Amino acid sequence: MRILITGGAGLVGSHCAEYFARKKYKVIILDNLMRSKLFGYNKKSVEYNWNYLAKFKNIKRILGDVRNIQDVKRALGRGVDVVIHTAGQPGVPSSVRIPKEDFSINAFGTLNVLETLRKVSPRAIFIYTSTNKVYGENVDKIPLKELKKRYVYKTIEGVSEKMPTDLTGHTPYGVSKLVGDLYTQEYAYIYNMKTAVFRMSCIYGIRQFGFEDQGWVAWFIIANLFNKTITIYGDGKQVRDLLYVSDLVEAFDKFIQSDLKMGVFNIGGGPQNTFSLLEFLEELEKQTGKKTKIRFSNWRPSDQKVYISDLSKIKKELNWQPKINPKEGINRLIKWVKKNENYFS
Ligand SMILES: NC(=O)c1ccc[n+]([C@@H]2O[C@H](COP(=O)([O-])OP(=O)(O)OC[C@H]3O[C@@H](n4cnc5c(N)ncnc54)[C@H](O)[C@@H]3O)[C@@H](O)[C@H]2O)c1
Repeated sequence: MRILITGGAGLVGSHCAEYFARKKYKVIILDNLMRSKLFGYNKKSVEYNWNYLAKFKNIKRILGDVRNIQDVKRALGRGVDVVIHTAGQPGVPSSVRIPKEDFSINAFGTLNVLETLRKVSPRAIFIYTSTNKVYGENVDKIPLKELKKRYVYKTIEGVSEKMPTDLTGHTPYGVSKLVGDLYTQEYAYIYNMKTAVFRMSCIYGIRQFGFEDQGWVAWFIIANLFNKTITIYGDGKQVRDLLYVSDLVEAFDKFIQSDLKMGVFNIGGGPQNTFSLLEFLEELEKQTGKKTKIRFSNWRPSDQKVYISDLSKIKKELNWQPKINPKEGINRLIKWVKKNENYFS
């Protein structure tokens, strides 16, 4: 089996690459290493995953841009069986700052990969890494109850795929990712390709270079360990469901193995694996034995107060569920950050 992973130097992409390389697939990764350019930080850290994957003989690394048709053709070569498209501009604040670049990467880049794939390997499976942000502020219409350290949904346990995606604010990131999400579905409807959309909530894991604008779990851990100050936007009672990245990759594999022709799934830690920011800091401080420096600021635009994925559909259709408890996942990430302190201190 040949698999192309776009964004293979990123958190999700590099874990996909390692997982399928260990399964003896021929893996190709396509990445232009632009995370450092997008977020203006340390190039060394962006190259970490790229270099990490060099040790696998069955991973071929191609430097290139998903928006460039020649680069995508080069990566597809004579054809592939699967594409996992993780390349993206993944930050919300950056999408507000550079909406055209955000659109070109997330929306046009996705269409470019889909369309090139259709020409080269029309029978290939295409997996798209979408986001809960496609539901935008519709999520905030769910009635909430305020407790001492967190908000909770009053009427439901989690957000299902039936939540409307329009007639609300999203941020440019939510919109550009929704465009890719819809094209992925459309290529199943109109061109009969096998495609899946995974609307992911908070994904974390080792080899994640989080910072204030993106990857908050890793960022909180890095800040705690290296005495940097965290700004909490809002009151810290906002709740997220956390999913360790290897659990996500297993869900992708289950879709690849399945007989489904198409799928749209919400995926995250689900109602059993949630933390508010305040609760997360408590757990973190318990594990590291260190206090975190924090300050509070105003809510960010379209920041959902609570987002928890309803996992009923994915459990039923893919027979999948999260395995790694967040306390264990946080512990793994703490150990990895400590071991790689020269990237963070
Ligand atoms: N991490 C999360 O919690 C989360 C949640 C929901 C959705 N997502 C989506 O999942 C995907 C992967 O997220 P991640 O956390 O691994 O992000 P990441 O930034 O770690 O990885 C993205 C990779 O894409 C590469 N890239 C960016 N633009 C590119 C381009 N034009 N051509 C080729 N490569 C390009 C970057 O260099 C980077 O290596 C993103 O599309 C993101 O929108 C992530």
